[in-house]
Amino acid sequence: MAVASTSPLSAKPTTATSPPTPAFGFLAPRSRRGRATAWRSLLVEAIRTQREKQGTEGHFEESAAAPLDGVGVGADDPVVPSSDASDWVVKLEQSFNIFATDSVIMVLKGVYRDRYYARFFALETIARVPYFAFISVLHMYSTFGWWRRADYIKVHFAQSWNEFHHLLIMEELGGNSLWIDCFLARFMAFFYYFVTVAMYMLSPRMAYHFSECVERHAYSTYDEFLKLHEEELKRLPAPEAALEYYLNEDLYLFDEFQASRSPGSRRPKIDNLYDVFVNIRDDEAEHCKTMKTCQTHGNLRSPHSTQNCLEADTECVIPENDCEGIVDCVKKSLTK
Ligand SMILES: [Fe+2]
Ligand SMILES: [Fe+2]
Repeated sequence: MAVASTSPLSAKPTTATSPPTPAFGFLAPRSRRGRATAWRSLLVEAIRTQREKQGTEGHFEESAAAPLDGVGVGADDPVVPSSDASDWVVKLEQSFNIFATDSVIMVLKGVYRDRYYARFFALETIARVPYFAFISVLHMYSTFGWWRRADYIKVHFAQSWNEFHHLLIMEELGGNSLWIDCFLARFMAFFYYFVTVAMYMLSPRMAYHFSECVERHAYSTYDEFLKLHEEELKRLPAPEAALEYYLNEDLYLFDEFQASRSPGSRRPKIDNLYDVFVNIRDDEAEHCKTMKTCQTHGNLRSPHSTQNCLEADTECVIPENDCEGIVDCVKKSLTK
């Protein structure tokens, strides 16, 4: 029986059958690739079956149940062990970051209200910017021979790749339907890039903490959304972009951005839209942990490099041309 939906999740009336097909669901008008091909469905089904056999979902659900264990969901935890002398600097940096994040969150909530997908589209457009900014600066350091840690560039690219797929999912759900939403999100992203580059050059610790605050907010936003709309989301199909990303045969980059996990320890289950948002939320938790790790200088290891470290410790040694921020880099290059 067809029923009219008043939920902000649906662009038009949906059916009450479970699960609805894309032809009648709210996803249909925004599908980028049209009808899924038979081979694609078979491939997805084969991967799903294989993962069920391996029993990896159980492990994932267990570890995803408390993705921010010991960290808390608020954005105001002191996160960096520091010497007494620099304590006040760290506190000042973190206070500024928390104030800035809270201000932007307040504006976004006021602008988007219950237009969830438009808000998520804005969030994901902004979300990948800092990782590109980090890579830009690290690339410059590498060019000048100041800083050559492949792990950082690898992990940040994988983080950016993950956020890019979140963005594709939000686009497929119609988050970019209005030009004003696109304009606002891209306008913010443009300035955010330059702000992050400047902040990262002056204080990588501060820039990583700022990103941690943003990722915490993303985690809380998706968590709240899941709790409010669980039943409705479970009746809706997963977007193709999500199936292609989470159920891909090659999950090297998916493993790579989760610096606190060993490769292969998390294999998502995607049966409906609820599962998609659960995984997006859990991705945000992993970003948050990675950003926290990065705030201690030289602490980040690629999950794949960590495996190599067990075999050849020389790969884990920080090179002599290590530096922290542009001032430190220039100072060290002049005194060398
Ligand atoms: Fe995201
Ligand atoms: Fe994120």
